[in-house]
Amino acid sequence: MTIAVPSLVTLEAAALAALAAAPDAAGIDDWRAMWLGRQDGRITGLLRSVKDQPAPERASFGGAANLLKGRVEAALAEKLGGMKSAALRELTTTAALDVSLPGRPQTIGRLHPVTQTLRDIIAAFGEMGFRVAEGPEVEWDRYNFDAMRIPADHPARDMWDTIWVDSIIGGKRDMLLRTHTSPNQARVMERQAPPIRVIVPGKCYRQEATDATHEWQLTQVEGLAVDEGVRMSDLKGILYEFARRMFGPDRKIMFHHSYFPFVEPGVEMAIDWPVKQADGSTTYKWVEILGAGMVHPEIIANHGHDPKKYTGFAFGLGVERVALLRWGIEDIRHFYANDLRFLSQF
Ligand code: PHE
Repeated sequence: MTIAVPSLVTLEAAALAALAAAPDAAGIDDWRAMWLGRQDGRITGLLRSVKDQPAPERASFGGAANLLKGRVEAALAEKLGGMKSAALRELTTTAALDVSLPGRPQTIGRLHPVTQTLRDIIAAFGEMGFRVAEGPEVEWDRYNFDAMRIPADHPARDMWDTIWVDSIIGGKRDMLLRTHTSPNQARVMERQAPPIRVIVPGKCYRQEATDATHEWQLTQVEGLAVDEGVRMSDLKGILYEFARRMFGPDRKIMFHHSYFPFVEPGVEMAIDWPVKQADGSTTYKWVEILGAGMVHPEIIANHGHDPKKYTGFAFGLGVERVALLRWGIEDIRHFYANDLRFLSQF
């Protein structure tokens, strides 16, 4: 069979016209089967017929047929591309996709206000020569109380309503969630000789009624300095400097005498706390942020050092209280209520 060149032209025109008329993807599939189908596509058949051409025409016929196929395939690719962008255009109107809208902001985490405050406290004491030590949150009775001169049945135990761990050895409840970081005074003195300058940050637990300035879980920073010639004036100097760094030079600070079995003499330090009233006015209240004093000589002796040679001071600072005062927060219970509206303000 011989196909004349004019009929190649007709064939190509018919293929292109049918392609242009294909309305959608399904129409294009039908068109492809009809013209380019492997079995009996008309252009496929045309190429197959090259070998049936008389020898002198075979080469030029084959060349023309291949060019034809190339042009038709190019037209197909163009049609497919056009359909794709038409579909996208359609989508931008029907799905109302506005590519000019700003993206959704990533929510970025941040440090809890208590953690931020703790880090600033550690930095302030670090600059004053204190290094950081750590101790266990689940503590032995003998460190939490006995080592701190609070024997069993001593009324001073009532200063801290203890959360006990359900463990009894030798008929005695012996394990608890530490009520303060002070047991680390003993732990540090046991393993280190003076000069000692440490702070010990960590969580403490007290089974007590909560209110605007009390939580059953609290963070403390214990401070301990033991050396030759450490005096009460050193303690006051360090704590004044800390308060200046934390709250600025204008904030009011008050020391007053207090009792803790492990120090002699003992003090508490308070800061003025501005509380906004309903009528818009502000009233001030003293809020204690730490207990402190001179380490009791018995504790120095009991942990391996000579109290005639060495003296020391200790303090225990409430980190949530510092955070409360620094930002003027009206209720300490916000810190552990897990409310992002509160937490994201810091
Ligand atoms: N441990 C005491 C408390 O939690 C605070 C304190 C520490 C007092 C060190 C004096 C010296 O209340």
